[in-house]
Amino acid sequence: MTIDDSPVGVPHMPRIGDPAPAFTAVTTQGEINFPADYAGRWVILFSHPADFTPVCTSEFMTFASMQDQFARYNTDLVGLSVDGLYSHIAWLRTIKEKITYRGMSDVEVTFPLIEDIGMGVATQYGMIMPGEDSTKAVRAVFVIDPRGVIRTIIYYPLSLGRNFDELLRVVKGLQTADHFDVATPADWRPGDPVIVPTAGSCGVAKDRMAEPAESMQCEDWFFCTKEIRADEVEAAIRRS
Ligand code: BEZ
Repeated sequence: MTIDDSPVGVPHMPRIGDPAPAFTAVTTQGEINFPADYAGRWVILFSHPADFTPVCTSEFMTFASMQDQFARYNTDLVGLSVDGLYSHIAWLRTIKEKITYRGMSDVEVTFPLIEDIGMGVATQYGMIMPGEDSTKAVRAVFVIDPRGVIRTIIYYPLSLGRNFDELLRVVKGLQTADHFDVATPADWRPGDPVIVPTAGSCGVAKDRMAEPAESMQCEDWFFCTKEIRADEVEAAIRRS
């Protein structure tokens, strides 16, 4: 089955490895043509349930405060909810003028927030989960690479605010895996050992166990790690 012939009535769910579905949309920063406008950059496309709600407000303030940190890793942010443009503008103005959260105040959200009253984009991206709420998007996160391919999808329910340090860790992990041709183990952070690709033949497996390379630490033939210093990781993935 291709992505275009889901059974009638079954909402389309993009998958990791798929090209990010294309759309044009009105946003708080003008019209965008997605993902074409972001070619050559990483982008986090995320949805939130509604403007003028507390969890969403705390998330937007946190994301906006971390925008420079994401930009250091060549990563742009794009938000979406099924509210209209004027609601978005009024909410972002209120956030800047009135809200203090965890020491953050006077926070200006300068990344685009998509208006999606018709739920066209939310439906295209599988952001509406009727069992949770049929008229609001859940808290979906799509991490899309510079070629426009979806690399990570994370969903949270309405009541659970996201962990933005984890989203930054995801970006760093994906970029590190691409750059060094490695995988990253549980709870990996830059500076922790990385996983060397598993031996793809009996010969390599045998050699690895008989004469492990000095740079590698093998628990068994299928589980070998190597060190990449945090500064090497940062030098490779961080924009200068
Ligand atoms: C919130 O952002 O606070 C929220 C939004 C929709 C449902 C529940 C909570």
